[in-house]
Amino acid sequence: MKQGVFLTGGFLTPEVQARLESRFAVFSPDSLAGNAEEVGAVITTGHRGADAALMDGFPHLRIVACYGVGYDGIDVGAATKRGIWVSNTPDVLNDDVADLALALMLSVVRRLPESERWARAGQWETGGDFSLTERLTGRRLGMLGMGRIGGAIVRRALAFDMEVYYHATARKEGSPHKWAGSVLELAREVDILCVAAPATEQTRGMVNGEVLRALGKEAGLGWLVNIARGSLVDESALIEVLREGVIAGAALDVFADEPRIPLELREMENVVLSPHQGSATYHTRRAMGELAAENVERVLGGEKPKTPVNNPELG
Ligand code: 8YV
Repeated sequence: MKQGVFLTGGFLTPEVQARLESRFAVFSPDSLAGNAEEVGAVITTGHRGADAALMDGFPHLRIVACYGVGYDGIDVGAATKRGIWVSNTPDVLNDDVADLALALMLSVVRRLPESERWARAGQWETGGDFSLTERLTGRRLGMLGMGRIGGAIVRRALAFDMEVYYHATARKEGSPHKWAGSVLELAREVDILCVAAPATEQTRGMVNGEVLRALGKEAGLGWLVNIARGSLVDESALIEVLREGVIAGAALDVFADEPRIPLELREMENVVLSPHQGSATYHTRRAMGELAAENVERVLGGEKPKTPVNNPELG
């Protein structure tokens, strides 16, 4: 009998789905009933997650493979306790997430979506020229998080002659970039605050009202860009500072309660919205799926995953 793989949603690309179906019995939430005993692997996303109760529904579970680099929705502690591997998909998405970060910076600073809406509405014909905008080149960029994705963003930012500051869990030895001892200090120094750190209990709400006010420099300056997780930003504080003109704008790929985006953010012209598209290219989603599938194949074949985030063998 084929081993079972449970997918928490229909997110895999067709090639990856076919790869799994050629080796395993693949179940969706609709086809799972009566088959939980067979399931040795769950593939989920950071957002859909996998809590202890979900894992407990599968007595023979050996791996929870996250289709994404951020695995904040997965109860890794509960998995480790039960001897279950957890894996993620690092690196394969760095470039596309970093590309989107730069696209968001350009969009919010050059007011691209706003000018596009204006042109589309025929306002050029009747309203003269669109207003002048700010520029991205030469700006001070503050990276909150300087991991693999942060590094890819910085490499691109340097092509825009940006001056890079960062705050992360640890100072990078030998880094040519300027270290800030706290997120507040970082916000004070920079024009653009870019959030690229993982969602953890420590980073929850880290970008709060005080940090956003520091970004604004009491002059309505500064832009917030978030390609990490909505939980790192106090969304109510963000809405408040945007409403009061404390900062210049925000470009957001992630939100506190996805897929819901607060109406206030949807109505503001100086807010650029993206529906969690960081890794959402055919190329990268396929690469993420192939890596998740490889992790599942390895563990169900008796090996360790290629990209684990825990080690249940150590308990
Ligand atoms: C999602 C992401 O996993 O990698 C991450 O942490 O947030 C994304 O790549 C992807 O959108 C699937 O939900």
